[in-house]
Amino acid sequence: MATPTLSPFDRISQARAEGRKLLALTAYDYPTARLVDEAGVDLILVGDSLGMVFAGLPDTTGVTLDHILYHTEVVARGVNTALLVADFPIGSYEVPEQAVANGKRLIGAGAHAVKLEGGLGQLGKLEALRDAGIPTVGHIGMLPQRVREEGGYKKKGKTSSEADILVESAISLQRTGVIAIVLESIVPDVARRITEAITIPTIGIGAGNDCSGQIRVIHDVIGSFPWFVPPFARPHADVAGETLRAVAEFRNEVNQGAD
Ligand code: KIV
Repeated sequence: MATPTLSPFDRISQARAEGRKLLALTAYDYPTARLVDEAGVDLILVGDSLGMVFAGLPDTTGVTLDHILYHTEVVARGVNTALLVADFPIGSYEVPEQAVANGKRLIGAGAHAVKLEGGLGQLGKLEALRDAGIPTVGHIGMLPQRVREEGGYKKKGKTSSEADILVESAISLQRTGVIAIVLESIVPDVARRITEAITIPTIGIGAGNDCSGQIRVIHDVIGSFPWFVPPFARPHADVAGETLRAVAEFRNEVNQGAD
């Protein structure tokens, strides 16, 4: 008998019980989404990181809801089996009503779930989204939408009070029904504590190996954004180098009279 295909939500919720690490990547365009989906990734995020690696902005604070809606529509065309998550950009989830209205638009654009940054301050919005039937993913630790107030990308959980708040946030987020929590730039021991304190998956980025899964910006995995490579990124390809090489080869071909 053929194994029944798991829904994208079941893949996420069953991974921990099966002792399987979740694999998550960002995608912002159709071909990347289709390739990453075909490669068997569990979760594809249309992250507001697109502001930096797609649009060339200095950080994610210039990303608008219209940007994410457009890229979600584009990416959805390429996704067949992964869970497609769309990021709420800054300013698009200020109050619960706005979060619900914009969450519905993101789902309408093709997302299965939405992700928002923040911990204890976001519980009301997460509950409102749950009550509206919109699946959510949490995101705690370093919050890129606050990079300007914080004056850079800082590791979180270095003091015991900060660590305790992170653990408490994760437990509270789980209570609102989030299906997974992204842990960004968190001291590895604290990320492990969080993972042990909750039953839903934690998906780490710069948070050590003891999370239930890992998420990366696709450009950091394939080496296509050489101008900024975060310390935790380990490129597995050199797409930037290959692009330069291919263009040089094309130039030679043209110079030699090819049409
Ligand atoms: O915007 C994004 O790509 C993200 C991931 C880095 C987690 O939020």
